[in-house]
Amino acid sequence: MNSPDQANELTRQSLTLDQPDDWHLHLRDGDALATTVPHTAAQFARAIVMPNLKPPVTSLQAASEYRDRILSARPSGSEFDPLMTLYLTDSLAPNEVETAFNSGIVQAVKYYPAGATTNSDSGVSHMSAVMPVLERMAKIGMPLLIHGEVTDHEIDIFDREKVFIETLLEPLCRELPTLRVVLEHITTRYAVEFVNAAPANVAATITVHHLLFNRNHLLAGAVRPHYYCLPILKRSSHQEALIAAATSGNPKFFLGTDSAPHARHAKESDCGCAGIYTAASAIELYAEVFEDAGALDKLEGFASHYGPDFYGLPRNTNKITLEKKSWQMPSSFTLAQDELIPLRAGESIAWRLAK
Ligand code: DOR
Ligand code: ZN
Repeated sequence: MNSPDQANELTRQSLTLDQPDDWHLHLRDGDALATTVPHTAAQFARAIVMPNLKPPVTSLQAASEYRDRILSARPSGSEFDPLMTLYLTDSLAPNEVETAFNSGIVQAVKYYPAGATTNSDSGVSHMSAVMPVLERMAKIGMPLLIHGEVTDHEIDIFDREKVFIETLLEPLCRELPTLRVVLEHITTRYAVEFVNAAPANVAATITVHHLLFNRNHLLAGAVRPHYYCLPILKRSSHQEALIAAATSGNPKFFLGTDSAPHARHAKESDCGCAGIYTAASAIELYAEVFEDAGALDKLEGFASHYGPDFYGLPRNTNKITLEKKSWQMPSSFTLAQDELIPLRAGESIAWRLAK
């Protein structure tokens, strides 16, 4: 039996929300921006832009110039506001980080363990190498955004998030208890439990692909490279824990797509890249997940309120409306000189953003 509230949601045909933001996004650079920026700007007011370019964004000047290129790629009339991040390397100076934060252009620092994912070779070799920067960030209240996976080759890929939490993140949070931490794109019940148990200065983003899929979608019957992302999709019990966290109304969990474009040939390869492109339909896909969970009333907090609250930024005042009208995702987009296959390519999506 559905509760009256659930019955209400099952028949819901439209949903108006404060405009959401994307708190974890890859836009890339150069000609790719002509594809990625309009997709995100059509949905989100702001996005935290990841710094894993080649070379990585490691200074206020580089972040500011990258921001200008993103602004130039906005459709006319768009007020999309890219929130920039710096890429943490062993040699990033605490003063550079503080100057960047004070500029208002850079909101956060991104921690990639060296070798964890796409363009992470310059990442952190060991936590001790970056402690002076992290201490400064704790002092000035600047968020640290963490790709939470160990990279040791002997650790099974499905265990890398859990081992990171146990061996690196818990000690870090004990040592710097006031550091504001976002554990990005969480994929396991261990991450949910860790964030739930942590104080209010520790939060997490959840992607829509980790809510929609589990490792069977990636591996059962055939290898599907367009479902390959990092952290890798886990078993369905972890997917269920993520859905429960996202739809719980707990402000520690908020929206971050980790939408990450790669050329089709780089994904459909014998050494395929990690990343799923969801920017063209992100909020509609999250609406599908929340509707399936009988929790459409929790979508606005997750998508539009808890992120700005955590970052200490104002909530958006303009609105978007989602309609229960099925539409078809194009089978591909152009990405610079290449082809980009979005999630749900050529398939239908149940909700549509009203124009
Ligand atoms: O799947 C992923 N793709 N995970 C990441 O952490 C990085 C991203 C990318 O940049 O392609
Ligand atoms: Zn990412």
